[in-house]
Amino acid sequence: MSRNSREWEALPQVPADHYVSSDIYVEQEVFDLEIDRIFRRQWKFACHESELPEKGDYRTVNHAEWPLLIHRGMDGVVRAFLNVCSHRSSLIATAPRGNAKVLTCFFHLWGFDSTGACTEITKPDGYNQCSAISKDKMGLREVKCSVSLGMVFVNMDDEAEEFDTYVGNALEQLIEPMGTEPLEVFHLHRVQVNGNWKQWQETNMELYHERGHVVNRTTSIMAKKYHEREWSVHPNGHGWLAPFKVEYTNYKGWDQRDALTLPGLTPGEFRVVDLFPNTTVIVRGSVIRIDTTIPVAPGITILEQRGLGIEGESAEDRRTRQKHHNQFWGPLGRNLSEDVIFVDAVAQANKRRAGLWGIFARHENMMSQDDEIMRAYYRVWSAMMGRPASNPLGRDVVATMPTMLMEGPVK
Ligand SMILES: [Fe+2]
Repeated sequence: MSRNSREWEALPQVPADHYVSSDIYVEQEVFDLEIDRIFRRQWKFACHESELPEKGDYRTVNHAEWPLLIHRGMDGVVRAFLNVCSHRSSLIATAPRGNAKVLTCFFHLWGFDSTGACTEITKPDGYNQCSAISKDKMGLREVKCSVSLGMVFVNMDDEAEEFDTYVGNALEQLIEPMGTEPLEVFHLHRVQVNGNWKQWQETNMELYHERGHVVNRTTSIMAKKYHEREWSVHPNGHGWLAPFKVEYTNYKGWDQRDALTLPGLTPGEFRVVDLFPNTTVIVRGSVIRIDTTIPVAPGITILEQRGLGIEGESAEDRRTRQKHHNQFWGPLGRNLSEDVIFVDAVAQANKRRAGLWGIFARHENMMSQDDEIMRAYYRVWSAMMGRPASNPLGRDVVATMPTMLMEGPVK
């Protein structure tokens, strides 16, 4: 039976942590709080080490609406700074990437070394009359930075816990495939998605939606043991899934990925690690994908996807690996473009609150399509925000929760 407007607007018939309000995706107030309470406090993937192969290489990134500069210093150490000159607060580097022994601001040519120390104030005598401006006081603002399995993470909060504590054992499944041989990014795909940043993270956590992917239905959902692998959830909101073997040959015309299997994996092995708040590493036998997002506005997100292979491999091997990558994930791959369409479809319905709720109420003993990974994520999100994901703006709502569901936790 269809529902009238009052019935449609009533709360979902599930416990409060089993759904989210569409306000979390569309409201500017929520978005602004996320920047302050999540992105300026949590560790965030910035780039892969291979993007800074030489001393002096840098990459500029936008994080939490602040410009950052990731630099491999002349001592080989990767550091992060606010990409802001100490003098007039101009951007220092304006290109996406480059190489600089000395970080020189192009505005008045102040210079900074690899450690962020100010090494050059042009025509310094002019500051002598009425100020105490000197090189030793005008260093760059350094940002906490940690490199783990080749991945560079940053944190804007000087008081934040160390990255290893934050991530706990979430990266264990990646130690062999990412930590045995040097890897390099061979594919960087940056695209604007017309949806909220959390929606992209959801596409990597919520596996119930694999039913919507034409190729996943046959290669994964129909494969043996698909429903038998278990999710693990970390108290900080990270989650990872027990490995399993994907049957690529179930999709007509595709080869099984027996070649070029990465260290520590069996051929065709699939692993996924989701890091709170917005990074995912996916392993598909021979290739690795790292996803991260840059929130621009509640309904606008820049998605960055990196494909990784083994550094220095032959051109033929690289071609095969790229083929594996692009079949599934490239801009015209069978999987990725469908996720963009899913995100867009939900964003269109949520935009003016035609859609009010997202329901995450599946219980399957923590197996593949259990929604506990989503509930755990939104519990952490709600705690950090100081507001429940089910009603972040404190709206008056029509509660119709049946008594039986309010009495205790659902098993
Ligand atoms: Fe998907």
